[in-house]
Order: sequence, then structure tokens, then C-alpha cells
Amino acid sequence: MSTPVRRIGILTGGGDAPGLNAVIRAVVKSAFNAGIECVGLEDSFDGLIYPERSRPLTPRDVTGILRLGGTILGTTNRGNPFAYPLDTADGPVDYSDRCVENFHKLGLDALVVIGGDGTLAIAYELQKRGVPMVGVPKTIDNDIVETTMTFGFDTAVSFATEAIDRLHSTAEAHHRVMVVEVMGRYAGWIALHSGMAGGADVVLIPELPYHLDRVSEHIRARERWGARFSIVVAAEGAHPAGGGRVLQTAGTPDRMERLGGIGEQIARALEPLTGKECRHVVLGHLQRGGTPTSYDRVLATRFGSYAVELLQAGHFGVMTALHSPNVVAVPIASVVGRTRNVPPDSDIVRTAKHVGICFGD
Ligand code: F6P
Repeated sequence: MSTPVRRIGILTGGGDAPGLNAVIRAVVKSAFNAGIECVGLEDSFDGLIYPERSRPLTPRDVTGILRLGGTILGTTNRGNPFAYPLDTADGPVDYSDRCVENFHKLGLDALVVIGGDGTLAIAYELQKRGVPMVGVPKTIDNDIVETTMTFGFDTAVSFATEAIDRLHSTAEAHHRVMVVEVMGRYAGWIALHSGMAGGADVVLIPELPYHLDRVSEHIRARERWGARFSIVVAAEGAHPAGGGRVLQTAGTPDRMERLGGIGEQIARALEPLTGKECRHVVLGHLQRGGTPTSYDRVLATRFGSYAVELLQAGHFGVMTALHSPNVVAVPIASVVGRTRNVPPDSDIVRTAKHVGICFGD
């Protein structure tokens, strides 16, 4: 029987996703109602490296945050305590022992870590050093394995769908091709879902490398039957068959590579191939900002509250997950280092193809 959990730390790591505050609120309220104290750790693991960057969280502190985007605790994707990037000539420093020490100094019994694959992997390594944790998966990309959905995804898809709806009318008025670049890193979930919801004509995803001549033929065929405009949704990680992804910046030891630019590249290349005016729009961080949808608020609340249940049961080293319709716990070890991609033979891809969406594959 493990010692009862009386005081927990909460942190948010990696890129933000709408619904983070809803998780924090659910953890704080559920913990309070179970007699557990909460401490908010600021800017991911920085709050353990620098314990002065932590503060008590009570229901009063989380009132009104359910509908807010971002995270009241702040976040960073440059704060790996095992290789902390200090701007010194000596390079990254290992602060993991310091985190374990400060975890105890703060009187914490366990952590709720809300983050993507990278953040959860770090927390799991800390657990091996005696810091019990429960993870809550977060990403707009929806690419974490062992859960059918992450909060933030629905908000990103809703925003992208609205953008595609708006682009339809201007594309139609000017008889243009509009190429919309959406986020998603190495997975095509946002492109696929927003493309289907928005009635896109072409959807390009990393899982199905495309041939531009097939895309342009699809656009020309539409022209022949009288549709004089087309909407192309391109995932930022999409790439041609035999070609590479388009990067804004290459990765470094403490930063992942930044994808971006495929939309512009496709629009330029399609002009001569289709004989049509082609424009591109990059939705970028607009997909991540703003208020979460009701779906994301509910999923985030369920994850946060279940994380507290797991802590109370002494069930550590697990991540909350949606196995629809239930929220369950899955071992973190089965999640880290893996990515959940769109299966090319899935019913959703088949459906998209049946209704005439071209993937250029
Ligand atoms: O993982 C979420 C995400 O928004 C990706 O879709 C995107 O590639 C990346 O983060 C952008 O990261 P940053 O905000 O660090 O540029």
C-alpha cells in the first residue's frame, strides 16, 4: 500500500493546446474535494528546477479559467531538466537531481503532468528517480498513441474548418485555387478532419505522399465539369512522393525542427500545372489559440479529474486516455517515443476518397 497522496504538483509542458486550463481546473477542484492540496509549477519543469516559481492553487485560483486558451501556469518546450539549455559555453546541464530534491522540498507526493509525448517521457524518467506521476495527454495534433483523442484537437479542427468555409466563398468568387496549410507535425489528423468538415477538394497528409500531377489533374477535372475553384488543405508535414518535408528551421539538440512552407510551395507549383491563379494561407498558431470547444472542455475535465482518481488509488506511471466512451489509464511506457498517424487504409480515408477528395497518392 503506497502512502496516501496529500499534496500534488501540476505542470503543463510543450506547446499549448486549448483545454489546458480546463485540466488544471478539474485537477484542482477534484483534488480539493478529496482533501488534496495542489501546487502549480510554472513553465513546465522550470517550476521544479526553481521552486520559487511555484504557487498554491485553490478552487479560488481556477475560477473562470475553463473557457480560457493557453495555460495559467505557463509552458515551454525548451525545459528538459535532463539537458537544460543554459546559454553558457558549457552546453546543457542535467538538473534532474535538483528536480527530485525540490519535489521533496515542496512537500509533494506526486505530480500531474499535462503534456505531449516529450513532456510525458521526461516525467516518466523522473518517476524512475522517485517522483510518482500521472500524465494527461495534450496536443492539437491528436498524434499520441493509446488515446483516440487529445483535447485541443477539436478546437484546432473547428478553427481550420471555419477558415476553409471562409476561403470557399472568396475562392469561388475569383475562380482561384486556395491552398490552406494547417498544423499537425508528422500526422495528418487536422488536415484530414478539417478538410472533410470543410468540404476540401484536395487533402495532403504526411501519411500519403502525393504526386503533384495527380493533384493538378483533379483540379483540372473539376474545371471541366464547371467547378472553377478548388480548395487544397495541406498538412504542414505533407510531402511529395520521394521528396522531403518543408522546414522553417532545422532541429537542434534542445528544439524540434519547425515545419512550415509546404502550402506556399504547392500553390506556386500548381499555378503552371493548372493554369489557375493559386494563393496560399498558413493558419499557424491561430489553430492553437483561443477558447476551447465544448468537446475539448469536457474531455480535458474528464482527464483532469480522472488523474486525481488515479493518484488517490496510488496508480502511478500511467496516462489518462480516451477509449471511447470511457476514460481509462494506460502505462506511460507504452506511449513514449511513438506517434499515432492516420492509417492510410482507415475508414475515414476511404470515406474521404468515396466523396471525391483527392489525396494525390
Ligand atoms: O505540436 C503542436 C504544434 O502546434 C504542431 O502542430 C506544430 O508543428 C508545432 O507545435 C509548432 O511548434 P512551435 O509553437 O514551437 O512553433
